[in-house]
Amino acid sequence: MPRIIIDTDPGVDDAIAILMALAAPSVEVAGLTVVGGNVPHARGLRNALALLDFVGRSDVPVLRGSNRPLKGRFASAQHFHGTSGITRRLPEPTTRPLPQSSVDFLAAQLARFPGEITLVAIGPLTNLARLERQYPGSLAKAASLAIMGGSVDSPGNITPHAEFNFYCDPLAAHEVMNAGVPLTLVDLAACRQVFLSRDEALRLRSRRPMGKLALEIVQNWFRADRGRESMLFYDQIALAAALCPKVLTTRQVQLAVQIDGDEAGASQTAAAGGPIALAKEVDVEQLMALMGDWLGWERE
Ligand code: RIB
Ligand code: CA
Repeated sequence: MPRIIIDTDPGVDDAIAILMALAAPSVEVAGLTVVGGNVPHARGLRNALALLDFVGRSDVPVLRGSNRPLKGRFASAQHFHGTSGITRRLPEPTTRPLPQSSVDFLAAQLARFPGEITLVAIGPLTNLARLERQYPGSLAKAASLAIMGGSVDSPGNITPHAEFNFYCDPLAAHEVMNAGVPLTLVDLAACRQVFLSRDEALRLRSRRPMGKLALEIVQNWFRADRGRESMLFYDQIALAAALCPKVLTTRQVQLAVQIDGDEAGASQTAAAGGPIALAKEVDVEQLMALMGDWLGWERE
């Protein structure tokens, strides 16, 4: 049974990815480590607790993480995710995060279960960079590492050059991409292959609680702005790839990440070969079938 820990800045697509993981058969979600990004850290922490509480999964530990990047301040994506970060009002959580930090939790879990934990990072990479700084060699103890981030040799989505997660903490992105650890990277070029149209989204239904909540989040996102005709999938692809690697084809690369300046957060292929399996093609049909299976999404 795969054990996964999700490092997240919940966020609309993060929430859907988390619900996918909770709904996937024979997967143990061993924890959510929170990082600032889409919304301020405190809001993301509240969202993680509230989401788990709402679906009856408060058994999953939630850990406080970084409320600012290694250098500077996080950008925000509340224009996309809404002020609360999740487009479905959730009751105040009745639970609290564990007392330890995300970094200490990740270090302890990876040391205790070497080669058993799949790490899925779907926010700025600050927690993972801090983990590797404070506990060198921890990332290499993961069974696998799947990351959503970057816009390799392609335009960004928060600046013309940079993708949001890399832009929020370019130094952390640089350190994780150059830690020498094998990882799968789902960047914007991959995400731009997968989208759900407004019409398709509004025609979907689910009879399962997690699938229904995920759909309400998606459908409310469309209803929040009449100009929204399609929704790109970001974190959902990284989560699906972590659990079902065949959903992607990849090529091995080394990456360069711009740490500062006007192109901070930009990412380029530095060399072929290397530890990063960069997503090339997404099997969209298989991805949508996985989401349909796990979340019980059906066309009306
Ligand atoms: O660029 C997309 C990424 O930034 C996703 O992880 C989304 O949740 C935001 O964090
Ligand atoms: Ca995210």
